[in-house]
Order: sequence, then C-alpha cells, then structure tokens
Amino acid sequence: MDDFRIQGGTRLNGRLTVDGSKNAALPLMAAPLLTSEPVVLHGIPPLADVRSMERLLAELGCRVDRSGRSMQVQAQDEKRYHARYEIVKTMRASICTLGPMLARRGEVRISMPGGCAIGDRPVDLHLRGMEALGADITLEGGDIIARADRLKGNTIFLGGPFGSTVLGTANVMSAATLAEGHTVIESAACEPEIADLAKLLNAMGARIFGAGTPRITIEGVEELHGAEHVVLPDRIVAGTLAIATAITRGDVHLEQFPWDHLLALTDRLQEIGVKIERTDMSEPCERCTVHITAPDAFKPVLFTTQPYPGFPTDLQAQLMALLCIAEGNSIVTEKIYPDRFMHVPELSRMGARLIRQGATVVVQGVPELIGAPVMASDLRGSASLIIAGLAARGETTVSRVYHVDRGYVRLEEQLNSLGAMIERVNAETGEVIGGAPSITTRPLGGVQIPATAAHPRA
Ligand code: EPU
Repeated sequence: MDDFRIQGGTRLNGRLTVDGSKNAALPLMAAPLLTSEPVVLHGIPPLADVRSMERLLAELGCRVDRSGRSMQVQAQDEKRYHARYEIVKTMRASICTLGPMLARRGEVRISMPGGCAIGDRPVDLHLRGMEALGADITLEGGDIIARADRLKGNTIFLGGPFGSTVLGTANVMSAATLAEGHTVIESAACEPEIADLAKLLNAMGARIFGAGTPRITIEGVEELHGAEHVVLPDRIVAGTLAIATAITRGDVHLEQFPWDHLLALTDRLQEIGVKIERTDMSEPCERCTVHITAPDAFKPVLFTTQPYPGFPTDLQAQLMALLCIAEGNSIVTEKIYPDRFMHVPELSRMGARLIRQGATVVVQGVPELIGAPVMASDLRGSASLIIAGLAARGETTVSRVYHVDRGYVRLEEQLNSLGAMIERVNAETGEVIGGAPSITTRPLGGVQIPATAAHPRA
C-alpha cells in the first residue's frame, strides 16, 4: 500500500488540464453491451475503477482494446451473463452492467453490491426500475438474477429518500432503449453524466429525450449499433483542483473545466472570496479554461449537498478542508450520504475544529492546520486530506492512498506539476516510489506561502 508524504505550505502555480470523468466513463463503458458492434470511447481516464470495469467487460464476453485514453469495446460472446462478487466488490459501479445486459441478453446475474465506507448504498430503485420494465428479479446466493424475454416500456418513478439515483437512472434509461414501446422516467437524475450517456446511446441509434432533466422519455428501438464518443471532463476532479488551488492561495489556470456543471461549487468559492474566472466566454461551456486565485483570508459559508444541480456530495469533503481555515463558522450538511464524514476525525487530527451532529458539521475556522499522519478511508475523503496537507504547517502523511487512485490519475504528479511537494511512499518499506524527487533537495516549483498569507490570523 502507498502513502503520500506532503510538505505543506507551497503555493500552487501553473496550468493543468482536467481529465475525462470517471463517473461518466463507467456507465458509458457498459453501453457497448447493448450492441454487437464496436463502440469507441475517447478521454477515458486510466484509473483503477476503469481497469476493474475492463476486467468485468472481458468476463461478460467483450473484447476491450485500449490505446492511451481511447478504448474500443465490442460484445462478442453474448452468452456470458454473470458479474461475479470478486469484481463487483472492488467497484460498486459494476451495477451499471445490469440494465444493458438484461435488455440485450435477456438474463443477468450480478452480485449484490454491499454497503461501503460512505454508508448504505442500496440498489432497490435499480431493481424497481427493471421490474417496471417487465423483468423477473430474484436473489440467490448474494446475487441478483434478472430475466426478461423482451422488456416493455412503462412509466417509472425513480425518486428515493435521498433524491433520484444516478446509476439507477443510467440503468433504466439504458435498458429502456431496447424495450418495446415508450418509457417515461420520472424523478430521473439530472447529473451531466446521465446526459452524456444519453448522447452516446442516441449516437448508437437510441431515441432518448430529456436526459439531464427530471423527466426522460425513451422510444424503444429494435437494435442499437456502434458509435464513437468523447467523455465529459471530470467535474469532481476539476472542483478538487480548484479547491486545492484556493487553499494554497495559488494562481492556476485549469483547462477543460466543465464550468456549466460546477456552478454550485463556483458560487460557494466566490462567496468564500476565491476568484474563479472563465478566460473564454463561449456558450455553453462544458470545457473552458478558468483562472483561479485566492485571497489571504477566506469567508465562512453554509452549504448543503444535493442532487445535481445542487452542491455535489463528491466535493463535500474537499470544500470542508478549505473551510477549516476560514475566518468564522461554516455549516456543512450532507443530504445524499448522511454518514459521509470519515474525513472529519482525520481533519481534526490536523487541528481542524469540527463538530458533527448527525448529517451536519459545524466547522469553526482555525488560523492554521498542522501536519499529521492521517488515514484515508474513501475516495473523496482522501482528496480532502491531501488538500488539507497542502496548506498545513509541516508534514502530513496520508495513508491508504489507493482510495484516491480510484478517482484521480496520479494526483500527486498533477499537484507537483503545480509546485506541490508530495512523495508517494511504499508504506511497508518507506521507499519513495514516485511524486516529488526528493523533498529535501528539490528546487521549489511553487512559491512558499508567506506565514501571514497562509495563516492570516496566526
Ligand atoms: N439510493 C437508494 N436506492 C437506490 C440507489 C440509491 O436509496 O437504489 C440512495 C443512495 O443510498 C444515496 C442516494 O440514493 O443516498 C444517491 O445515490 P445514487 O444512486 O445517485 O449514487 P450512485 O449512482 O451509486 C453515483 C456516483 C457517486 C456519487 C453519487 C451521487 C458513480 C460511479 N458514482 O453513485 O460517486 O456520490 O452518484 O452523486 O457515478 C464518487 O465518485 O466518489 C462517488 C461515490
């Protein structure tokens, strides 16, 4: 297992391009299961979850050819239908093979995904959607078994206690493309990743209308064909880099920044005092360049995570890290995963003052964070600890960074290219295996944050 060793206090400076979106890529990779023709995807980030999905597709009879960030997937053996526990347990997004497999192959057996570090993550809405399309669903040995001769269009309500479901919408929408007749999904997830998936499916011959709104309609077709598609930039990676820039009072240009998809974050950052400006004004803007600079002192804010276009749960931990050094009290409420706060005790170890009551955390700003050994226990929580480490006084070691590798392509190298000082270290041997050359001898790529700027009230 690897750790990150971070020397805090360096200001980020420079230019970086945002990678393709993991959460768009995973359901897009399942779409080729709906046809026997090849589907070509560009902008696929080389991440652990993408590799797990490649393995799963191979088990499900697909040929996957990869060249750099492009990938061609073609379903060849359509008799395979079992997504085994060994793979599903490594990646919950395996569930997005359910809809395509059922629609095209008439049968799917997929291990029931368990809960995970961020809380209970049921799939009841996915199953309800499949049943509404006419599937017969049973549970056997921990596996969901779904069967149907041909799915039939229906009107389906996908709202749940925490809003709609992103991958549930992806599953039902994908399955309905090959159903007989007309399907309406009410309370559909509006996330940009759903609109991106609909764009690919429509390029494959599907007839989907309204994706990206709460009401999606689908006219079923007899078959789909191959297509080519470029994945959206990753709004969560873009947001993480913007917050990392802000906490170090950096000066960074981010390219391929999905501005239109991040208004909830840019609104909060501007309220905090961070300057985030588009340098091109083309409309609409899913891929623009932004320039981020930050003031010496941050204002506290309130924010609540919500389904899109509200504030994304996947950026809650990262923005909380920034608010730890704001001048005053901030309030953070989590409405998607009420237990997604594993970063709270770890940030506290770095001197943050955080009071949690249920799904709300009061963040009492402190003048500075202090480096400490901390442990990552989920993907976005790890990103928040790394962000905190960038601004903290002294050294922070974040252990178990395999979590962060699931969703960020070599985050340490990206941040180091902006002047951060992060080493990737083998946790067992202590050997430096990547990242900043040697922190003690390395010439500074960035500018040290002056004590007064980094800690305005210190
Ligand atoms: N929910 C149900 N029943 C269901 C499905 C979901 O009650 O059948 C609940 C969940 O427990 C949660 C809420 O509905 O409280 C939303 O869950 P959703 O189904 O939308 O989550 P997901 O589709 O499984 C995707 C992302 C997550 C992101 C959520 C919310 C992927 C691969 N994952 O998960 O991303 O947090 O949407 O935006 O797209 C991450 O990238 O770190 C991550 C966890």
